[in-house]
Amino acid sequence: MFILNSIVFSIVFFSFLSIVYATIKNGISPMPTLPKVKRILVENLPSEPVTQIAELGAGWGTLAFQLAKKFPSATITAFENSLIPYTFIVIRKWLFSQTNLIVLRKNFYKSDLSKYNLIVCYLYPGAMTRLEKQFHEQLTKETMVVSHTFAVPNRKPSKTIIASDFYQTRIYFYEY
Ligand SMILES: C[S@@+](CC[C@H](N)C(=O)[O-])C[C@H]1O[C@@H](n2cnc3c(N)ncnc32)[C@H](O)[C@@H]1O
Repeated sequence: MFILNSIVFSIVFFSFLSIVYATIKNGISPMPTLPKVKRILVENLPSEPVTQIAELGAGWGTLAFQLAKKFPSATITAFENSLIPYTFIVIRKWLFSQTNLIVLRKNFYKSDLSKYNLIVCYLYPGAMTRLEKQFHEQLTKETMVVSHTFAVPNRKPSKTIIASDFYQTRIYFYEY
C-alpha cells in the first residue's frame, strides 16, 4: 500500500511540477475555453470547405475535439508543447478514435503555419503580438484566424462576436 501511495503521489507531484514549469515557460496555463464560448465560437466558423485547421496551444483539447467533430473531412493539427496536457490529448484521441486530429508536441512559433486555412487560438496578449508578425509572414492564402479573449494587435477583425458568458468574452475573426 505504501509503495502504491508513493507511486501515485510521485505521478501527481511530477504532473503538477511539469504544468507549473510549462506555464512559466509559455506565459500561459492550460486553462480551457469555457463551454459557452466554445459553443458560440464553433457555431460561427465558416461552413465552406475547410481542409487544414490548426489550433495553437490546444491545452486539454477542449476546442480541438470540437473542431474535429464539426469538420470530419478536415485535418485538425493541435499544437501543445506542455507535456501533461499533450499526453492527455493523445490518450483522449486514442480512446475516442479521433482519426482526423493530429497532436503535435511542438512550439507553434517555430512551425510553418502557411498550409492552414483556419487557425484557432486562445492565448494571451504577448503571444498575439508574436503571432501578428508570424501570421503576416506566413499566411499567404485565404486563411481565417479566430482568437477569443485576445485580439491580434494592429489588425482589424472582419467580425467580432461578444459571447453572452459571465466575462462577455470577445471572439475575433480575421481574414488573411
Ligand atoms: C489558455 S490555454 C488554451 C487551451 C485550449 N486552446 C482551449 O481553448 O481550451 C493555452 C495553451 O497554449 C499552450 N502554449 C502556449 N504557448 C505555446 C507554444 N509556443 N507552443 C505550443 N503550445 C503553447 C499552453 O501550454 C496552454 O496549454
